[in-house]
Amino acid sequence: MAQPITFFQILLILLLHDYISAEDGETRASCRTAPADLVFILDGSYSVGPENFEIIKSWLVNITRNFDIGPKFIQVGVVQYSDYPVLEIPLGTHESTENLIREMESIHYLGGNTRTGRAIQFAFDHLFAKSSRFLTKIAVVLTDGKSQDEVKDVAAEARKNKITLFAIGVGSEIEEDELKAIANRPSSTYVFYVEDYIAISRIKEVIKQKLCEESVCPTRIPVAARDEKGFDILVGLGVKKKVKKRIQIPTTNAKAYEVTSRVDLSELTRNVFPEGLPPSYVFVSTQRFKVKKTWDLWRVLSLDKRPQIAVTINGEEKTLSFTTTSLINGTQVITFASPHVKTLFDEGWHQIRLLVTEDFVTLYIDGQEIEMKPLHPVLGIYISGLTQIGKYSGKEETVQFDIQKLRIYCDPEQNKRETVCEIPGFVSMVDELLRTT
Ligand SMILES: *[C@@H]1O[C@H](CO)[C@@H](O)[C@H](O)[C@H]1NC(C)=O
Ligand SMILES: *[C@@H]1O[C@H](CO)[C@@H](O)[C@H](O)[C@H]1NC(C)=O
Repeated sequence: MAQPITFFQILLILLLHDYISAEDGETRASCRTAPADLVFILDGSYSVGPENFEIIKSWLVNITRNFDIGPKFIQVGVVQYSDYPVLEIPLGTHESTENLIREMESIHYLGGNTRTGRAIQFAFDHLFAKSSRFLTKIAVVLTDGKSQDEVKDVAAEARKNKITLFAIGVGSEIEEDELKAIANRPSSTYVFYVEDYIAISRIKEVIKQKLCEESVCPTRIPVAARDEKGFDILVGLGVKKKVKKRIQIPTTNAKAYEVTSRVDLSELTRNVFPEGLPPSYVFVSTQRFKVKKTWDLWRVLSLDKRPQIAVTINGEEKTLSFTTTSLINGTQVITFASPHVKTLFDEGWHQIRLLVTEDFVTLYIDGQEIEMKPLHPVLGIYISGLTQIGKYSGKEETVQFDIQKLRIYCDPEQNKRETVCEIPGFVSMVDELLRTT
């Protein structure tokens, strides 16, 4: 006789299910796992030659190794083209990176003319249009010659349909204007040029970073005349609503928030950084404080409160630490103890900037480079916990401080462009330029 399932059994199943999915939910978010449809459109014309085509394949495989392939993550498709396009790998046919790589390695070189326009149209009709996933769509066009068909309008149409186009030109036969017409703007972000096929391995890292920025940093922050990819953490944490009191920073146009110990500046990390952070980024904050204890200006905690990332100010030692994940033992803490760090503790306004790359973290205070320190390889961050600002280390208590800016820029180049004009007594770079010219 079959036992009827009781209410308690159902409850137990539900509870167990919740327990399991909570554990599953703690996946590390990073570029490896950011969901995106990525299509490589590869030139297989005569000018490439079989040897160079092997280099292209190896490059493709090396870039693909940086991603977790799967229905929930990134999907990669490949089109090879000469006179006509060939669907080498459709989107979404692979469950694992290894299978996909094996298929990439077995692609045969075509030979023929260069009809790039037709290939982009093909990728649109036969790959992107067939994908049912609503997410970041990226196409990378790799070519070594001028297209023998119309390419401008086809590319414009694809971009209009929310496909982000990168163009990589190889060798001296390339037409720069054509690459610019294919790719998104600004060209400095979406167009690459290398002198020969050997050199494409040199742009592997930057392509990886740029592909990652597309899927991990969907939001833009208006900065001067441009829109920068990144995260305005004050916006992400709803500081405008939570902190009522504003103060004007003397002699500048900048306004700041006066944070008291009564507010809680926390938000689910999932809502702030849904796909984690790219391999390289720039942290910038402008604040003043009197507190003499150790506190986290910014931190990302896992569900069980392990720090994933933190910028910690140590008022006793007068140092600044950067905490991030580590492939070696989960966490690494980099401490900047140079005498210049002491200026942060003079109760005045200061800008802290950290340039984080895959190998180094560099601290800048008020636009001056202070120190550069090596980093071990990092892991993705857990996003099921909280992102917080202004908390005493290891506690939930909010620190009393004033904050004007707290941002993450995804493009490491922003490190060179960021000014300190919100700091009293510092002229902006623009003013400086105007005066010296
Ligand atoms: C791909 O990676 C392998 C192993 O690191 C390396 O030997 C090869 O040169 C790389 N290929 C390209 C084109 O970068
Ligand atoms: C492991 O992490 C801790 C905490 O950051 C650190 O003190 C320690 O040196 C690390 N060990 C290794 C082998 O890196």
